[in-house]
Amino acid sequence: MKRTSYVLDPWSSELPSDYKHLMEEFGIKPITEDLKKRMPDSHLIRRGILFAQRDLGRIVKAYEEGEEFAILTGVKPSNVFHLGSKLVADVLKFFQEMNGRLFYAVADIEAYHANKQSLEKSAEIAVDNIADLLALGVSEKNSYFYKQSQEEEVMRNGYLYARNVTNNTLKAVYGDKEIGLYMSALVQVGDILLPESEKFGGPKPVIVPVGIDQDPHIRLTRDIAAKHRLVRPSSVYTKFMRSLTGSEKMSKSEPMGMISLNDDEKTVEVKVMRAFTGGRVTVEEQREKGGEPLKCVVFELFKYHLEEDDKKLEERFRKCVNGEIMCGECKKQAAQRLKEFLRKHQEKKKKMIPKARKLLEKK
Ligand code: TRP
Ligand code: SF4
Repeated sequence: MKRTSYVLDPWSSELPSDYKHLMEEFGIKPITEDLKKRMPDSHLIRRGILFAQRDLGRIVKAYEEGEEFAILTGVKPSNVFHLGSKLVADVLKFFQEMNGRLFYAVADIEAYHANKQSLEKSAEIAVDNIADLLALGVSEKNSYFYKQSQEEEVMRNGYLYARNVTNNTLKAVYGDKEIGLYMSALVQVGDILLPESEKFGGPKPVIVPVGIDQDPHIRLTRDIAAKHRLVRPSSVYTKFMRSLTGSEKMSKSEPMGMISLNDDEKTVEVKVMRAFTGGRVTVEEQREKGGEPLKCVVFELFKYHLEEDDKKLEERFRKCVNGEIMCGECKKQAAQRLKEFLRKHQEKKKKMIPKARKLLEKK
């Protein structure tokens, strides 16, 4: 017997319980209907990919009133970009469309401490990463790209902001870590408050899009901002893309689980065809019971990256739960679209490499 009734919720914003706990404990709020209405339409909002915020209202207000605000993000240049990084680029673009100015920190100091990676190696990978961002449509015009190790303001402020930060605070926020990591944390505070420095025109609203794992940095920075009479930065939280193998977060350390933006066609094909799905053990069982798209990483690929049209996404969801489409076919379609996307992306990216290199030259 086919199942005909189901809860149609292809972009369920159901959060893991530990998210809920985190949100309640640290005052992170959902994105309200009112805020949604006041921002440009985007699949990131409609599909709950951006799912929570702190002081986002301040950013929306700046947007409405045509006032200046900054977008700040930092990424360790520890590996080539993957689909999770594309998601970050989508979020940056969304806020650039609201007229924010992007500040992009190449976190080479952090990579030095956390990944034991040389500054030279970071410089090399950063060029590749920034070429990806430009090819993905991040606007160069309203952007400032810099390396932590070369931005004097960030380093200097890192030292100055260390005042009144006790060992106990750092321990409570990050756990018992080496000094270098604590220093990177203060450099990161320097990053987040850079747009508010005199060099960039003084205090202003700043939005920091992050994964929820970065929230300790945000809390520390907000406390420090208040002490230094700066505007406490706002934050917005993105869901992680799961690994293709089904584990919680797409990560650089699990190559079969992530699609790199440099992957060739063959590799993409293999990875997608082996991906973790919400399919049943046998085709018969799947025809009868339907698949489970909410568990399925392939469905997630469509939702985050491969299907722009909400109606078509819903249609896929419906066909899946009704057992009208099998995983083999569905995965083939995903692989096809992904290959197409990457082919075009890689072409554009190649042309962006010299520009990316130039953007990172010492200013
Ligand atoms: N700590 C971040 C990471 O692990 C990188 C980072 C550095 C960052 N500076 C930042 C993130 C400022 C957000 C804002 O990837
Ligand atoms: Fe996932 Fe598609 Fe299989 Fe449904 S049919 S479980 S969406 S791969």
